[in-house]
Amino acid sequence: MKRHLRLGVNIDHVATIRNARGGRHPDPVRAARLAQQAGADGITAHLREDRRHISDADIARLVRDIELPLNFEMAATPEMLAIALKHKPHAACIVPEKREERTTEGGLDAAGFVDQLRPYVAKLSEAGIRVSLFVEASPRQLDAAKALGAPVVEIHTGSYCEHDGADQARELDRIVKAAAHAEAIGLECHAGHGLSFDTVAPIAAIDTIVELNIGHFLVGEAIFSGLDSAIRRMRALMDKARAQAAGERSA
Ligand code: PXP
Repeated sequence: MKRHLRLGVNIDHVATIRNARGGRHPDPVRAARLAQQAGADGITAHLREDRRHISDADIARLVRDIELPLNFEMAATPEMLAIALKHKPHAACIVPEKREERTTEGGLDAAGFVDQLRPYVAKLSEAGIRVSLFVEASPRQLDAAKALGAPVVEIHTGSYCEHDGADQARELDRIVKAAAHAEAIGLECHAGHGLSFDTVAPIAAIDTIVELNIGHFLVGEAIFSGLDSAIRRMRALMDKARAQAAGERSA
């Protein structure tokens, strides 16, 4: 069976460029509209505690002005919970956040913080927000997500993207197994972080993954080819890998 693979475009780094000079250009909401035209199925934005890229006003405008579902990435803090409950995005992805990190460096330790995370998953879910937990490709973390009542997990692909050769193959194997485990225990499985034209195909070929969230590479590539072209090419690579894998399975 070939399942549609959704593409969530993360627009954080459009805001990073805007914030380098202050002002309003380039506007992440304009990027979100363009992403929709180019074939994105959703928009992802991470409101960090230090507001280094996306701002509170961006989140308000994204919820108000964009037709695509918004996946709101957030740390499990009372401040972010209150913002999520105010705007009620389609989905909230709980991520670990450290002030000193350049990006989200590892997955959430759902297994280690079950008691702390439980009220966040419960309150977001009660508000009708689809909760996902951003975790490493580890059965222990997936089981914890399930125990917490989160319907979705997003598997961190950063380590797979950073490696090459045999190390990359080992990381890919972990992701394949984790995605199968997620399905077996009834979790919807997403993946993301660090994906590029070179790394996306093997992840897109995993049938049990239904959504990829991709940002930094697309915004960087937009400098050379434009955002529309970068998103269309990513979409095409995802669709091709998916179709090929489905063909191989049915052959
Ligand atoms: N998914 C999650 C949960 C993330 O935190 C990020 C980075 O903000 C991404 C996906 C996208 O990663 P990248 O910008 O490297 O494509």
